Amino acid sequence: MGRLDAKVALITGIGGGMGRAAALRFAAEGAKVVGCDLIAEGAQETVRLVREAGGEITNFAPVELSDAAAAARWVDEAAGVYGGFDILYNNASSPRFGPIDELPVEDWDFVMNNELNLVFYATRAAWPHLKRRGGGVVLNVGSIAGTRGVEFMAQNAHGTAKAGVINLTQQLSVEGGPHGIRAVCVSPGFTVTPSTAWLVESGPEPLLKNLARIPLGRPGQPEDVVNAALFLASDEASWITGINLVVDGGNSVLG
Ligand SMILES: NC(=O)c1ccc[n+]([C@@H]2O[C@H](COP(=O)([O-])OP(=O)(O)OC[C@H]3O[C@@H](n4cnc5c(N)ncnc54)[C@H](O)[C@@H]3O)[C@@H](O)[C@H]2O)c1
Repeated sequence: MGRLDAKVALITGIGGGMGRAAALRFAAEGAKVVGCDLIAEGAQETVRLVREAGGEITNFAPVELSDAAAAARWVDEAAGVYGGFDILYNNASSPRFGPIDELPVEDWDFVMNNELNLVFYATRAAWPHLKRRGGGVVLNVGSIAGTRGVEFMAQNAHGTAKAGVINLTQQLSVEGGPHGIRAVCVSPGFTVTPSTAWLVESGPEPLLKNLARIPLGRPGQPEDVVNAALFLASDEASWITGINLVVDGGNSVLG
């Protein structure tokens, strides 16, 4: 018995990091996974790993989710694979960083498109499918960056976009409730993935100091975040909606 038996889960950004870990774990728990990514190679490797482990997955990469039409097309085609779906896991995201007076306007717009708007585009397209299904789950990935400022990274655009994802989750829970649609958010702290691994070795001193103070003594692994996502996506969380579940080893409670 898997915790996601008979569920169909759409997962964005399966090409590596947490998206790959999510595809592997959700499939291992019995979900039929339909994934996408901007980068085809990474997504194909995830497909190989999931199938090697005995899981079921369909891959649509490459898909550019910051393009509203492409995101909607992916959701519709993904829904067609099994005649609907139960979970939309909005994991994909691409940040850019820079001090507020140096960050190019194009980079700010890029972050909004690739961290916030893509969540809206996929969710907007998924909504009618979930309503028709009689309910489901929109699982978003926020960040502790969405609820605080830090001195070690100029995360103005990234934090703003993630704050938007967290708040969008709350509003979706209200709009979704009458349709049986739950909306939940997982907000990771620093997690070791292909985009962040180098920082653990050679990041700026203030970041390394921050990581060294994490109450639970280590940065996160993709599986730490996916464990929380799995619970929230499963029927075990059937009376939980609108939540922002922080998964950060206690990092964000540090003064
Ligand atoms: N790693 C961390 O420390 C950390 C901390 C807090 C939040 N998060 C969030 O967790 C999620 C996963 O992070 P990760 O570290 O595994 O990221 P990652 O960069 O390793 O993987 C993200 C995947 O999404 C894909 N992607 C990005 N933009 C896309 C687009 N426009 N269309 C389609 N695919 C796109 C990328 O190709 C990549 O495969 C993200 O939402 C990220 O913001 C990460």
